[in-house]
Formats: sequence, structure tokens, C-alpha cells
Amino acid sequence: MKFIFASIFPILAFVSLVAGAPVHLVGRDVFVPPVILPNHKSVWKVGTTQTVTWNVTNPPKQITNTNAMIVLVTDGRLDIEHPLATGINVLKGTAQVVVPKVAPGKNYQILVFGDSGNTGEFFEIVN
Ligand SMILES: *[C@@H]1O[C@H](CO)[C@@H](O)[C@H](O)[C@H]1NC(C)=O
Repeated sequence: MKFIFASIFPILAFVSLVAGAPVHLVGRDVFVPPVILPNHKSVWKVGTTQTVTWNVTNPPKQITNTNAMIVLVTDGRLDIEHPLATGINVLKGTAQVVVPKVAPGKNYQILVFGDSGNTGEFFEIVN
């Protein structure tokens, strides 16, 4: 037992060092913009044009990817295959989207997705 413990410990230490490195590198440049609108008071009607707003107050100095897309999230599921908008400049802080034909409900959120993403508050879509 003593032998096994002594030989496993340095391996674990090595693995955690290696695993820690890329997380740190990525963390430096990732901008995860918080979605301001829509919020819990928003009601979007199917087929209308709406404005998504996110907070660009504190972007990192260097952003690896300023090209963002806006994704509808239903019950916590991202519809990455049908983004509401693509080619958005993440530093702009606002974009127009057309509300897709989805079932009415209060289980929707918007995600602004660049390197990483952040969902906004739940909001409602009506027909
Ligand atoms: C945007 O972010 C900044 C700092 O991160 C914060 O002080 C400010 O209140 C935010 N604005 C909104 C509208 O959420």
C-alpha cells in the first residue's frame, strides 16, 4: 500500500498541473458578456423583431474571438443549430433578432455566445 501511494501521488500532481494550464490560458481572453435584455419582464411575439442587449462594460483587453452568435435557449437547451443571429460583433452590445415560431411559454432565455456564453433571465414568447 505504501508503495502504491508513493507512486500515484506524483502522477496526480503532474496531471493537475497539465490540466490547469489550458484553463488559465483560455480564461485570460474569454469574454462572457452578461445578457441584459430580454429579462424576466420581456414578452416577445413570434415574428416580431426584437433587440438583444448585453453588457460590454468590462471586456478583457484582448479577445480571441469577437465574432458572436445569439442562440435561443429553451428549458436550458441551446438551439445551436438555428442561431437567431450570427456574425455579431460581441463588443457592440446589441443586436436585432426575429422571434422564431416556437411554442408560447416562459421557458426561454437568450445566450450570447462568443468564446463562451452566458444566458440571460427567463422571458416569455407569445404567439
Ligand atoms: C455592466 O457591468 C458593469 C461592470 O461589470 C456593472 O457595473 C454595470 O452595472 C452593468 N450594467 C448593467 C446594465 O447591467
